[in-house]
Amino acid sequence: MKIAVLGMGTVGTGVVKVLNTNKEKIQSLIGGDVTITHVFAKNVDKARDVDLSDIEITDDINDIYNADIDAAVEVMGGIDHTYEIILQLLNKGVHVVTANKDLLAERIDDLTAAANENNVHLNYEAAVAGGVPIIRTIENSLNANQISEVMGILNGTTNYILTKMTVDGWSYDDALEDAKEKGYAEADPTNDVEGIDALRKIVLLSRLSFNKKVDIKDVPSTGISNVDATDIQLAKDLGYIMKLVGIGKYDDSISASVEPIFFKADHQLASVNYEKNAVYVNGNAVGETMYYGPGAGSLETASAVVSDLIHVLTHPARGNFQPDEEAVIENKAVEYQYY
Ligand code: NDP
Ligand code: HSE
Repeated sequence: MKIAVLGMGTVGTGVVKVLNTNKEKIQSLIGGDVTITHVFAKNVDKARDVDLSDIEITDDINDIYNADIDAAVEVMGGIDHTYEIILQLLNKGVHVVTANKDLLAERIDDLTAAANENNVHLNYEAAVAGGVPIIRTIENSLNANQISEVMGILNGTTNYILTKMTVDGWSYDDALEDAKEKGYAEADPTNDVEGIDALRKIVLLSRLSFNKKVDIKDVPSTGISNVDATDIQLAKDLGYIMKLVGIGKYDDSISASVEPIFFKADHQLASVNYEKNAVYVNGNAVGETMYYGPGAGSLETASAVVSDLIHVLTHPARGNFQPDEEAVIENKAVEYQYY
């Protein structure tokens, strides 16, 4: 199985490491080798902490279009340029695995339509909650349910910052710098701290959970950039912990939002700390369920990417999930200020 990896940063290098470290197990699952034949990156001469000898590293996307590959892993980020690249690859009959929630939150319905027309997979487990296996869980394991609520801590960077401020007494700026160094934050962390990253993830989760197209422009979001360390400490003294939470609810209409919320200290989400994410899903058959794990990081995210890749290479493409109705979104955010 030949693949190209587009992007060789935090997640891309993690993908190489997971493929190498777990080579024998992956071989046995797919019945052959996964060979990275091409890497697409901005700086072809940049030193990487993985061995890329025998791989063609290129900054010319035509080399990827002309490559004889079964699948492409997109872990470079970006929206418009990356949309064109993924579209071209899908139209060439190449399966695509992506971690790119920025792009998917805006264009997933168009890309899914293209994937389905070309009978190929478009998988995105890593795009929501990093290493937590939530996408295929909702899409497959919970598909017998009508889901009424999906909510959670969906951004590792802001949870890391809030935890450092609450538990360890750090300043906002020091905690953000540390989150950047650890590879949790986006290249530009504005979208993390302003709640946009969590917004993109709750849009993807709501679409999947409620079987409706969700327009990101209809969902309000607030981040943590204006949060004051004194408020966090005062709330803590009163028994409350602040978390940035994405919420989607479905009754007759959908209400969705992202906002910082105070939880009682004994609430389950209050103990989800550092870069960890947690997602709560309520289905009418199964009842309440929770999923917990690393929301960001190199190997952690690569775990989800490589799992998608194994899925793509071992399952026939039978049509990627695509809702056909537009959602009516109501903002009932104010209901959820305290838990
Ligand atoms: P990095 O910034 O670490 O890496 C990005 C890579 O893409 C780099 O190798 C860069 O090349 C390459 N690249 C960027 N723009 C271009 C371009 N225009 N043309 C060619 N190559 C390009 O990002 P991450 O690995 O952190 O994230 C990658 C994707 O995964 C993003 O969509 C992100 O949102 C998502 N993601 C990240 C997680 C994380 O924990 N980091 C978790 C879940 C999802 P070069 O190295 O040469 O500069
Ligand atoms: N920057 C993102 C986060 C990466 O901190 O959660 C994972 O999507």
